[in-house]
Amino acid sequence: MNRLITFEGVDGCGKSTQLQRAATWLRGQGHDVVSTFEPGDTGLGKEIRSLLLAGEFVPVPETELLLFLADRAQHVRDVIVPALQSGAWVLCDRYSDSTLAYQLAARKLGQGAANLGQMLRFAECGVSPALTLWFDVPVDESMRRMKQRAESGEKATRLDDEAISFHERVAAAFGRQYASEPERMIRIDAEQGMDDVERQVTGELTRRFGLMA
Ligand SMILES: Nc1ncnc2c1ncn2[C@@H]1O[C@H](COP(=O)(O)OP(=O)(O)OP(=O)(O)O)[C@@H](O)[C@H]1O
Ligand SMILES: [Mg+2]
Repeated sequence: MNRLITFEGVDGCGKSTQLQRAATWLRGQGHDVVSTFEPGDTGLGKEIRSLLLAGEFVPVPETELLLFLADRAQHVRDVIVPALQSGAWVLCDRYSDSTLAYQLAARKLGQGAANLGQMLRFAECGVSPALTLWFDVPVDESMRRMKQRAESGEKATRLDDEAISFHERVAAAFGRQYASEPERMIRIDAEQGMDDVERQVTGELTRRFGLMA
């Protein structure tokens, strides 16, 4: 059974916070859970992540896309597939929807290249999410949270530092994806407090997978 759940949304929407909580909740119910993220959760991926996000080099949009896809293929085969085969739930912080929103839509790379969707599928190596949780939050709120996080000492990445118009394009792209795939994607109102957001997440998992409430 496919138990890959992806966590998506703009920077600072609460993905990592909620992924951790969902993992704890599922483990509490006796399930095996593998928590993972993109980019960078393999040995090779760590190197790719640093090339992509450290800011030492600025890739052209095409290179940026290809590096994210390279990281994904490695991640799927090294981590996600073995975990799914072992019967674990896999909770993944960002996946192809992020690539579509950031590298294609926000960088305006998708225009005039109809086969980019096929490239996304290629990098997934046949593994699509069973469910995607989209943490929908207004961009100004996500910016406020990121600012707060930065003040507490966490370093921003090259993509966090993009202009607000870039983040607006990312947010709009997630909205379009949700509209086009409402069965796979669940919209979570991520503007609420952390506990309320968690209740939405566990409620959706319970409903979708027939778990105990
Ligand atoms: N529902 C919430 N209400 C208020 N603050 C929140 C909420 N959820 C998370 N935060 C805070 O907002 C900041 C960003 O949250 P988090 O790191 O989980 O987001 P993220 O989506 O993983 O971001 P990134 O894409 O940059 O990794 C953190 O400081 C976190 O404590
Ligand atoms: Mg995060």
